[in-house]
Amino acid sequence: MHDQIITIERHIVEQERRYPQATGVFSNLLYDIALAAKIIAYETTRAGLVEILGLAGRINVQGEQQMKLDLFANETMIRMNSYTGRLAVMASEEEEDIIPVPEEYGIGKYVLVFDPLDGSSNVDVNVSIGTIFGVYRRKSKQGPGTLEDCLQMGRDLVAAGYIIYGSSTMMVYSTGQGVHGFTLDPGVGEFLLSHPDIRMPERSKYYSVNQGYEQYWSEGVRRFTWWLQGMDREDPRKPLSGRYSGSLVADFHRNLLEGGIYYYPAEATKPEGKLRLVYEAIPLAFIVEQAGGYASDGQRNILDIQPKSLHQRIPLFIGNLELVKKAEEFISEYDGQ
Ligand code: AHG
Ligand code: MN
Ligand code: MN
Repeated sequence: MHDQIITIERHIVEQERRYPQATGVFSNLLYDIALAAKIIAYETTRAGLVEILGLAGRINVQGEQQMKLDLFANETMIRMNSYTGRLAVMASEEEEDIIPVPEEYGIGKYVLVFDPLDGSSNVDVNVSIGTIFGVYRRKSKQGPGTLEDCLQMGRDLVAAGYIIYGSSTMMVYSTGQGVHGFTLDPGVGEFLLSHPDIRMPERSKYYSVNQGYEQYWSEGVRRFTWWLQGMDREDPRKPLSGRYSGSLVADFHRNLLEGGIYYYPAEATKPEGKLRLVYEAIPLAFIVEQAGGYASDGQRNILDIQPKSLHQRIPLFIGNLELVKKAEEFISEYDGQ
């Protein structure tokens, strides 16, 4: 007997079959994203050659400004999704305003929000980077999509996922029926199911935080970190190992598979935290919950927060349920919230 090989296309169709009223538009939207991901993956693996060869194999004309990978990823996501008739509007971390969809190609009923390139400080040093996305149904009734369509609560997501460009390229997504991971076979050019039904392990191994900023943390966050390190005298535990790459997607992905917590807390110099609610926190909160984990801003479930503006920042604690709940406890006890 041979094991079945399941491509992402086939998996998406099979998931959609569970909804007899589905039209296939949603499946096609997920393929569009997978295709954009392949193009970004291709450029990502040759990012070091851009100076020499230019983007997509173009010879670099002297003096020509080369496009940065985050702008290239942004343009690719927009280009691959603008003209499909499936979307009403988009929003990107790299664009100040909502991205309208050209009306002549038809306005669809879905909304796409994304961080085209996460971990951009790692591009030049060859460390894993990613793309994060979320899909909503539009709320507005007709015409071009609106800002309100892009400012929905995580509870209303119909799908979310991320792509990690690492030692291999993976796409991990959920439509609310578990979390599934696919690895890109670069020879064949297909994402193949490699991690069906991902669940966070019960036991955690890692904590991920930028400890360089410890002096700016609150008392609660500091004490929570000591607890993770096994230094809490009243509640000693085996210390977790520290891992922090500076790419949220990479740190999140590791903790999803191995167990652990990522946090980017509020800091004295960044009272709102650093990460973006719409493009980073909400989509990953959806994924983590589907895998049995939890995401919080330190007090509330991220999925219950109504975004007020496109580029709003939020403190984020995301990973194993037990650890994120513990962070909330420390914050409520020591930070008077
Ligand atoms: P982006 O590259 O999309 O701007 O996101 C960077 C984010 C996140 O990926 C990462 O975990 C965090 O910023 C790193 O910030 P610090 O360098 O302050 O730790
Ligand atoms: Mn990011
Ligand atoms: Mn980004």
